Amino acid sequence: MSLLDRLQALNDKAVSGLENCEAPAELESLYHEILGKKGELTEILKGIKDLSPEEKKHAGSRANEIRSDLEKRFKDAQSDLKTRAMEKALEEESFDVLRPVSYHAGGLHPISEVQYQVEEIFSSMGFRIMDGPEVETDESNFGSLNFSDDHPARDMQDTIWVEGGNLLRTHTSTVQVRSMKMLEPPFRIVAPGRVFRFEQTDASHETTFHQVEGMMVDKEVSVSHLIYVMKTFLRRYFEKDVEVRLRPGYFPFVEPGFELDFSCLVCDGKGCSVCKHSGWVEIMPCGLVHPNVLSAGGIDPSKWQGFAFGLGLSRLVMMRHKIEDIRHLLSGNMRFFKAFHGQAH
Ligand code: DAH
Repeated sequence: MSLLDRLQALNDKAVSGLENCEAPAELESLYHEILGKKGELTEILKGIKDLSPEEKKHAGSRANEIRSDLEKRFKDAQSDLKTRAMEKALEEESFDVLRPVSYHAGGLHPISEVQYQVEEIFSSMGFRIMDGPEVETDESNFGSLNFSDDHPARDMQDTIWVEGGNLLRTHTSTVQVRSMKMLEPPFRIVAPGRVFRFEQTDASHETTFHQVEGMMVDKEVSVSHLIYVMKTFLRRYFEKDVEVRLRPGYFPFVEPGFELDFSCLVCDGKGCSVCKHSGWVEIMPCGLVHPNVLSAGGIDPSKWQGFAFGLGLSRLVMMRHKIEDIRHLLSGNMRFFKAFHGQAH
């Protein structure tokens, strides 16, 4: 094979080799093989000394042509590879900001979900939402609610005392007095919140739970107003017509005081395990506000009357989701809560 033919063959080999190069390392080794100091071109050119002067010139210029052409091709291939590597990295490292990650989506705690719904129902009946502190004075939690110092009913609510003679409120009834002091009658309020009891825990007792206090103060307020509001609330909450009944109940801050039951929704009042075969489910204590409580709130009991109720928010949540142990509610157990996400109402 003449030297010129060998040069041409080398050129062709390099050109096709370049086409197949996939990585910078391959490119580099091909370069060394073809154009490196000890590469094939150098090897071929060793034979140039045996040629005639005319052939030498011709072969020399052809060799230079091929070398500079190949140098350029190698450069181009190198920058091509770089661009491709960059594009690939961008593609792999980029992420789709719109891609849904629903399996980790959060949700409302069932207590919050029910609380918001209760607030909405009462708001639509003209009740405003009130709030009060969780650390309270003895006077707010008991005294102004008509518990005298040695009142036996204080023992009904085992109290968690904190430093300075204060306590963690045992019920949301504390907000009744705060509201009376803040608002001009007539008014209607509901006050959802956490309450605390020093209690042995079991499936139906927890040291922290949730209540919604309700109160309406107006010129003439009777038990029938109370029944109407509670029936309306229960119908909207359970999306079903319910019957209610009152049994006498004792709380120092109401007179008369009642326990309000509603007809069992599971068996329609026929009797089942949920209503302990009575056909009725206890839902909230309530009553007409005691005159002493109105006075403690700065409201003249000869001019104004009121009703009040204490709804067990934790119980409402348990009924909705058929939760049998109250201790699940504040357990923070995500596996437990995941079961409820997305199945509200
Ligand atoms: N505060 C009472 C409790 O937690 C519940 C209660 C009873 C609230 C009667 C009321 C009421 O507003 O009228 O045991």
